[in-house]
Amino acid sequence: MRKKLPTYFYNPVTLTGMYLSLISLGLIVFLTIIELLASETKPYMGIITFIILPFFLIIGILLIIYGIKRERKLEKKGKVRYRLLPVIDLNNPRHRKILTYFIFGALFLIIFSAFGSYKAYEYTDSDQFCGTTCHTVMNPEYTAFKYSPHARVHCVDCHIGSGAQWYIRSKLSGAYQVYAVLFNKYTKPIKTPITNLRPAQATCEQCHWPKVFLSEKLRKITYFLSDEKNTKWSIDLLMKIGGGNFESGQTSGIHWHMNIANEVKYYASDDRRQVIPYVRVKHENGEVTVYRSTDEKFDESKISEANLKKMDCIDCHNRPTHIFHYPNTSIDDLMSIGWVDPDLPYIKSVAVEALDKGYSTKKIGLDSIGITIKTFYEKNYPEIAKKKQDKIERAIYETRRTYERNYFPSMNVSWKVYPNNIGHLYSNGCFRCHDGNHVSDNGKVLSRDCNTCHTILAQKFEKESLRISLGGINYKHPVDIGEAWKDTDCDVCHGPD
Ligand code: HEC
Ligand code: HEC
Ligand code: HEC
Ligand code: HEC
Ligand code: HEC
Ligand code: HEC
Repeated sequence: MRKKLPTYFYNPVTLTGMYLSLISLGLIVFLTIIELLASETKPYMGIITFIILPFFLIIGILLIIYGIKRERKLEKKGKVRYRLLPVIDLNNPRHRKILTYFIFGALFLIIFSAFGSYKAYEYTDSDQFCGTTCHTVMNPEYTAFKYSPHARVHCVDCHIGSGAQWYIRSKLSGAYQVYAVLFNKYTKPIKTPITNLRPAQATCEQCHWPKVFLSEKLRKITYFLSDEKNTKWSIDLLMKIGGGNFESGQTSGIHWHMNIANEVKYYASDDRRQVIPYVRVKHENGEVTVYRSTDEKFDESKISEANLKKMDCIDCHNRPTHIFHYPNTSIDDLMSIGWVDPDLPYIKSVAVEALDKGYSTKKIGLDSIGITIKTFYEKNYPEIAKKKQDKIERAIYETRRTYERNYFPSMNVSWKVYPNNIGHLYSNGCFRCHDGNHVSDNGKVLSRDCNTCHTILAQKFEKESLRISLGGINYKHPVDIGEAWKDTDCDVCHGPD
């Protein structure tokens, strides 16, 4: 038989290497083709296609090289061994049997690996895979996601989006994530902001288009104070969510920032982008305005184009789906729909306290919530503890459910570690810039006026008459703190301690 390749290829090591690399290469090609034909990107498939299979490919190639080198060494030393392939004699029953086993074995292996890799491929596409494979690591994000307005949007739609460049980037960071999880190198909680997150306009704007946000949005919020009677009050805010289309001339409102006609860039002096002493706006007529904080010290010589961040959706909507709700807001909402009975004395403050104590494990948390609420009523209101036992049980049930969804001791996650930038009450949010202390050279101030971003349409306190005006009323803080709310940032009192 004539050999097509030089003789030193024909040694067992090199041949094994050749088979290994051929199979890996075949699978890589196979998976890449289905990936190209599929309509959506599947980021974590890359773990198989671009990490595991190439690993075997490289091993195969190394085996080939090693086999050849060894064989040539032997050749030089004169120890040439002509290796003959085994002769197969189909008349020999033993040979027939071995050959049959071999063919069936090979067929089985090929079908199995093709099917297996296709299944793996499908699975890595799912939110379930993203959310649960690295179980405890992403459990908080996955849980919050499941109960958010974006529960039907896929992880990949926000985290990767479409296009080849970001696809490859995600493979690389995916590889790092696998490493981090395997070797326990991740931080608890996972650090944000994600510095290599794709600019949001390429992801969010696939579905939302602030250019066409023109109107305003009414938010009616009900609160209960922490007193014995859980005093109820409410506020109506008309959110000025307009962004507007430059061509149609209307470019005011909250989504003004979205670079519709302007470009906003800022410098943050901390990793979490919570302290913003420097903001630069390029208006559509080319004019540039710089706002500097008068109360945050910073070194302006350190600021360069490279460390300025261009403002995008995530600078406000940093928690569009992984929302870890505030204890106050959660309990207020449950009380306003009656699932937690507002007639239970002090229930607001007891439930919030039980919820937010910072337990070391989920189990301890769930148990303690029950005990705290129950013993509070047994000790202080024994009558009510008996008469309203079912209401108390329900309050415990709802508080526990809220705890389950919003607190994750194993990853140290709760509302306290991920500031939400959308408002200004529990974290500084909009007031990072709009605190009334950011001033431009010609004296323009980023306004903190209460009717800049929302019109306060109405406020109603129990026992007081409704105050209402389409032009906006003066805010009244629910408990008397003097004028403090006018110049102290709300999160100084309301934020995590
Ligand atoms: C609606 C868009 C959207 C969807 C859908 C989405 N994410 Fe996120 N995710 C974000 C944004 C925005 C951030 C925060 C980025 C920042 O602060 O830099 C984030 C942050 C994260 C973080 C970092 C930790 C944290 O809490 O900030 C993890 C982990 C994460 N997402 C996992 C997932 C998983 C798993 C899924 C699917 C089950 C998913 N995401 C779906 C938008 C999304
Ligand atoms: C695949 C489409 C899709 C993508 C991508 C997407 N969203 Fe959404 N988003 C939706 C849908 C659908 C809703 C409406 C859900 C509802 O009304 O229940 C929504 C709702 C919202 C809301 C209103 C939530 C509320 O509380 O009413 C905000 C804010 C939002 N998205 C911001 C974002 C941001 C920021 C991003 C990018 C990080 C993003 N979305 C990416 C589809 C998407
Ligand atoms: C300057 C901060 C800021 C930026 C930047 C921003 N938004 Fe918003 N957005 C808001 C606020 C504030 C609201 C109103 C929230 C509320 O209802 O309380 C809002 C509301 C929304 C809503 C809900 C609108 C509705 O009718 O309910 C969507 C969707 C949304 N934003 C998408 C986006 C997208 C997409 C981007 C990026 C292109 C973006 N936003 C950039 C602050 C911002
Ligand atoms: C990074 C700094 C920064 C943050 C954070 C920020 N803004 Fe702004 N905002 C600006 C700048 C700069 C202007 C424009 C001032 C000017 O006209 O030169 C502005 C203007 C506005 C305007 C007036 C637009 C108009 O002309 O009608 C509104 C409304 C507004 N912001 C709402 C918000 C809300 C709501 C948030 C929080 C969700 C927020 N901003 C967060 C920097 C910021
Ligand atoms: C730079 C824009 C901006 C300014 C200025 C501003 N707000 Fe707000 N405010 C917001 C946004 C955005 C939200 C909505 C947050 C959300 O969607 O949860 C909000 C929410 C609120 C809420 C409801 C909070 C909650 O989640 O229960 C109150 C109350 C409020 N603002 C009062 C005020 C008062 C009082 C002032 C004046 C001192 C003021 N705001 C100034 C942007 C602003
Ligand atoms: C000096 C501290 C302090 C400052 C500053 C402050 N608050 Fe408060 N706030 C309180 C106290 C105390 C309560 C009563 C809490 C209770 O009874 O549950 C409260 C209650 C509230 C509530 C009701 C919360 C709930 O869930 O029941 C809202 C809304 C609120 N404040 C808005 C604001 C806004 C908006 C600002 C900033 C413009 C602000 N506060 C600044 C101390 C402060």
